[in-house]
Amino acid sequence: MEFEMFLQAIGEYTGIDLAKYKRTQMERRIRSLMRSQGLTDYREYLLIIKKDAGSLNRFLEHLTINVSEFFRNPPQWEILKETILPEILKRDNPPKIWSAGCAAGEEPYSLAMLMRRLAPEINKPLILATDIDEHILIKAGSGVYKERSVANVPSNLIKKYFVQKGDSYHIKEEIKKMVIFKEHDLLKDPFHRNFDLILCRNVLIYFTRETRKELYKRFHDALRPQGGILFTGSTEQIFKASKIGMEAVASFFYKRVF
Ligand SMILES: C[S@@+](CC[C@H](N)C(=O)[O-])C[C@H]1O[C@@H](n2cnc3c(N)ncnc32)[C@H](O)[C@@H]1O
Repeated sequence: MEFEMFLQAIGEYTGIDLAKYKRTQMERRIRSLMRSQGLTDYREYLLIIKKDAGSLNRFLEHLTINVSEFFRNPPQWEILKETILPEILKRDNPPKIWSAGCAAGEEPYSLAMLMRRLAPEINKPLILATDIDEHILIKAGSGVYKERSVANVPSNLIKKYFVQKGDSYHIKEEIKKMVIFKEHDLLKDPFHRNFDLILCRNVLIYFTRETRKELYKRFHDALRPQGGILFTGSTEQIFKASKIGMEAVASFFYKRVF
């Protein structure tokens, strides 16, 4: 069976539009996963995936790469804390925030910790956190991390917002309750509107250039007109942002201007 046919069959089976992911990178990852299971034939692999839910999960996890970190790329989080969030918090209503492609929750919880500090008076869920991978969302909801995952978290925040149990760190309820996790596929589900802030970091890199362009337009439309901010990953500059009504306000932060 050709790779192309395999992709199509998997797409039909899982509902994920694999044609929009970067082809060579995806093929390399799938082949390495097959090799690790002693397989070389796509037809055989497809049958295994269809028969065994564990194999399907491993395939999806490998494909969607849900590696993350708290405060990933710290200098950008500094800009978020010092400039972007204070500006957003000047607005009348509590901000509406979306972490798209949130993996195991490191990103939305990092943000929730900042918000607790900057706006302790806001006491309701503020952050919608979504991902295509239902398994990683269960982990996110539990809020339990190993020591290496919290390596980037400043020690004062660890003391304040985590409880250590053995070798794991449990995020406290006051942070957890600020985040709502939901399953959402960026390639096919509708986007909500009027976000003050959208974080979509280290997700679009897996998609083809065409798909990235389309998604940036959809993020633009999902932001609050005049002033909504999109925070991207550190390899995800938007070229000619002005063409889609955005303006770079700092490295990797784009504001909707019309
Ligand atoms: C590398 S992680 C990025 C996590 C976090 N944003 C960060 O920067 O650390 C990429 C995440 O994108 C998710 N993802 C991949 N394809 C997706 C899609 N079509 N819709 C929504 N999320 C997707 C994966 O499941 C994974 O959790």
